[in-house]
Amino acid sequence: MEQVVVITGAGGGLGSIFAKEFAKDGRKVAILDFNLEAAGRVAEEIRASGGRAAAFSCDVTDKASLEAARRNVRETFGACDVLINCAGIQDPLAKTTKEAYEPGDELGTETDDESRTLFNLDGSRLLKVMNVNWLGTFTACQVFAVDMVGREGCSIINITSMAAYDALSMVPAYASSKAAVDMFTRWLSNYISNEYGKVRVNAVAPGYFLTPLNHDMYVNPDGSYTARYDHVIHRTPMGRLGEPEELVGALKFFADPQLSGYITGQVIAVDGGFLSCPGI
Ligand SMILES: NC(=O)c1ccc[n+]([C@@H]2O[C@H](COP(=O)([O-])OP(=O)(O)OC[C@H]3O[C@@H](n4cnc5c(N)ncnc54)[C@H](O)[C@@H]3O)[C@@H](O)[C@H]2O)c1
Repeated sequence: MEQVVVITGAGGGLGSIFAKEFAKDGRKVAILDFNLEAAGRVAEEIRASGGRAAAFSCDVTDKASLEAARRNVRETFGACDVLINCAGIQDPLAKTTKEAYEPGDELGTETDDESRTLFNLDGSRLLKVMNVNWLGTFTACQVFAVDMVGREGCSIINITSMAAYDALSMVPAYASSKAAVDMFTRWLSNYISNEYGKVRVNAVAPGYFLTPLNHDMYVNPDGSYTARYDHVIHRTPMGRLGEPEELVGALKFFADPQLSGYITGQVIAVDGGFLSCPGI
């Protein structure tokens, strides 16, 4: 398929698989990442197996860096047809160390206190997560949509999370950022899918996939699984984590105007049933 697909965060656990799978259909894949070395490895692997891919350095929190990446993508492959916003972070210092309040938590207000609670989380760490996950998605859309508006068949796909729907414990900034991406997906579809803009905007909400982003939350240093992993599996009717490749069908569906040309503002959860299962 002749499409230029731009994927942010494509050096990472999920994005690298998205890049490889999209390249298999003959699409030209632009691999954007903060970590140029990781992006370069993914591009190299795709080219070695006959695909078309190139790596571009990009920090989604820096508009100038996104604009430079856009210029470079245009020169290398042409205008972006599909943008997948996959760059995202968790920050250990933006998480609480406890699932719920315990008496006395309000007294530990020093930010160097190892126990992180509502009362001593550092706002700048929360903002960092919001900046990458939400503002980074917004800014990438702002920059790449310049090449997409008014053309037939272009689309944007955001990556949200189960945390956008359920108030998952310990990750207030991550959950808020993904809820914001969910709302922004619908806002942007209202704005840009009209007869003039013609860009469809949808999202995929992954369930649980083991990647560098979340490895420490689900696997102990000795290789055994954490209690949080057990909670996830208990609430997942299919009884297992997902494989990154299992997200690709939903992405390709949204990317292909033949399959989803009248669909915008939607989210598909790829979660083994997690969202529809209360776990009791
Ligand atoms: N792994 C999961 O189970 C899961 C579940 C739901 C949602 N997600 C979302 O999927 C996306 C990808 O997650 P992953 O599991 O592949 O994580 P990952 O940590 O493996 O990959 C994230 C990539 O984003 C890049 N990145 C980080 N900050 C950046 C920035 N400022 N500019 C450009 N690139 C930047 C990193 O270098 C990394 O390559 C994230 O948005 C994440 O929130 C993941």
